[in-house]
Amino acid sequence: MSANDAKLAGLNSLGKTYDFGINEGTVGPSVIDVSSLYAQTGQFTYDPGFTSTASCQSSITYIDGEEGTLLHRGYPIEQLAEKGNFVETCYLLLNGELPSRKELEEFETAITRHTMLHEQMNRFFHGFRRDAHPMAIMVGVVGALSAFYHDSTDINDPEQRKIASRRLVAKIPTIAAMAYKYSIGQPFVYPRNDLDYASNFLHMCFSVPCEEMNVSPTLARAMDRIFILHADHEQNASTSTVRLAGSSGANPFACIAAGIACLWGPSHGGANEAALEMLSEIGSVDNIPEFVKRAKDKDDPFRLMGFGHRVYKNYDPRARVMQQTCHEVLGELGIKDDPLLDVAMELEKIALNDEYFVEKKLYPNIDFYSGITLKAMGFPTTMFTVLFALARTVGWVAQWNEMVEDPSQRIGRPRQLYIGSPKRDYIDIAKR
Ligand code: SDX
Repeated sequence: MSANDAKLAGLNSLGKTYDFGINEGTVGPSVIDVSSLYAQTGQFTYDPGFTSTASCQSSITYIDGEEGTLLHRGYPIEQLAEKGNFVETCYLLLNGELPSRKELEEFETAITRHTMLHEQMNRFFHGFRRDAHPMAIMVGVVGALSAFYHDSTDINDPEQRKIASRRLVAKIPTIAAMAYKYSIGQPFVYPRNDLDYASNFLHMCFSVPCEEMNVSPTLARAMDRIFILHADHEQNASTSTVRLAGSSGANPFACIAAGIACLWGPSHGGANEAALEMLSEIGSVDNIPEFVKRAKDKDDPFRLMGFGHRVYKNYDPRARVMQQTCHEVLGELGIKDDPLLDVAMELEKIALNDEYFVEKKLYPNIDFYSGITLKAMGFPTTMFTVLFALARTVGWVAQWNEMVEDPSQRIGRPRQLYIGSPKRDYIDIAKR
C-alpha cells in the first residue's frame, strides 16, 4: 500500500469502490471521514448507540477502554486526583494547561466570587413539591439561569462564553446545595468566600443557622477528589447531549440543563443512585449469588448497577480511586463494618471471577463505590446524581466551548434508516 493509500479507506458498496480520508489523532484509534459518504454513495452509515462513531475531534479527555486509561489534557486521572484539586482541574479542562500559581489564584477568586445566586431565583425552588427529585429541580433551575444572566448568553462573544462558563462552575454547587436543603425543609445556606470549593459545598449542605459547623478537612478532600473523578469523560451520553444542544446555538445554560436531564438516566449518571439501591436490595453477602444469577439471565431485566461500561473493557481507573476514597471516608467517620461495603466488596470479588462478567469484560465503574461513600457522608441517594451533575458541569462547559470554537462545527442533524410505511393515500374515515 503506498503512503498516499495509507491515508485512504476504500469502501466497496453495491459494486462500486469509494475512497474516504483517514484522520489520525494524537493517540488512540484513527477515524474514517465518512462525511462525504451520502454525497458519494446515496447511503448513510448505521450505528445506533454510536459504538463505532466519533462525533467530533477533541483535545480535552482521552480514554483507552482496553487499558483502563483516562487522561484530562494528557494528565492521568490518578495523578490529578492525588496531587491536584478540583478548581485546578476545572482550569485545566477549560484552558488546556495546568495554571501557574498566579493564574490559579485569579481563577479561584473569580469562581469564589460568583457562587451566589440571583436572590430572586430562590422562588423557583418554592414552586416544587418538597418531595421533588433534586434532579428535577436542577434541570429547572439551571435552565432558568438563562432568564437571569442575559449578559452571558451570546455564544459568539468569547468574553460572554468565559463569564457564562465561570458562572456555571461557580453556581452549580450553590444550586445543588439549595436543592438538597429544599428537599429536607431546611433554610438555604449562603456560600462563604473563606471556604474552598468542596468545603463551601459541604457547608451549604450540612450547616444550619443555629450553630457553627466546621467542615472536616478529610471529608472536604474526599468530596474534592470525587468532583475530580466525575469532571469529564469524553463524548458520553450527557456530553453528547450538551454538544448537540449547543450545535443549534442554544445558550450555555439551556445546554447544561439538557446535559443534566440526560445524566439523570439510570444507565448513565443515575447508576450511582441505582447501585446503592441494588446493594441495599441485595442486603447481605448470602444473597449475592441469586442476584448475580439474575444479572446473567437474558430474560431478567436486572443488571448489576455500577458494573459495565461502553468504553472501559478493563477496570474503570476512577473506580479504583473511588474505592480508596470510600475506605478513607468510612475510616474518618469511624464506620468499621458497613454492610453495604461488605456486600459491594464481595459482589465485586464474585463478579470479577465469574465467566459471564469476565467474557463480557464487565468491571466496576465509577458508580459502584461512589454511592456507599456519599451515603456515609450524609447524602440521601436522591442527591447522588446531583453530585455527579455538579462535578460534570465543568466537563460539559469545556466540551461546549470546544464545540462552539470549532470552525468545522455545524448543527448536529443525524439521518435514519426508514422502516415505516411507503407512500400511501389518505383514507376517509367512512372507509376505514
Ligand atoms: C456512566 O459513557 C460514559 O463515559 C459514562 C460515564 C461517564 O463518566 O460519563 O462513565 C458514567 O454512565 C457509567 C456507567 C453507569 N451505568 C451503569 O452502571 C448501569 C449498568 N451498566 C449497564 O447498563 C451497561 O454496562 C452500560 C449502559 C454502562 C453500557 O452498556 P453498553 O455498552 O451498551 O453495553 P451493552 O448494554 O450492549 O452490554 C453488553 C453486554 C450485554 O449482554 P449481551 O446482549 O451481549 O449478551 O453486557 C451485558 C449486556 O446484557 N451487560 C451487563 C451489564 N452491563 C452490560 N450484564 C449485567 N450487568 C451489567 N451491569
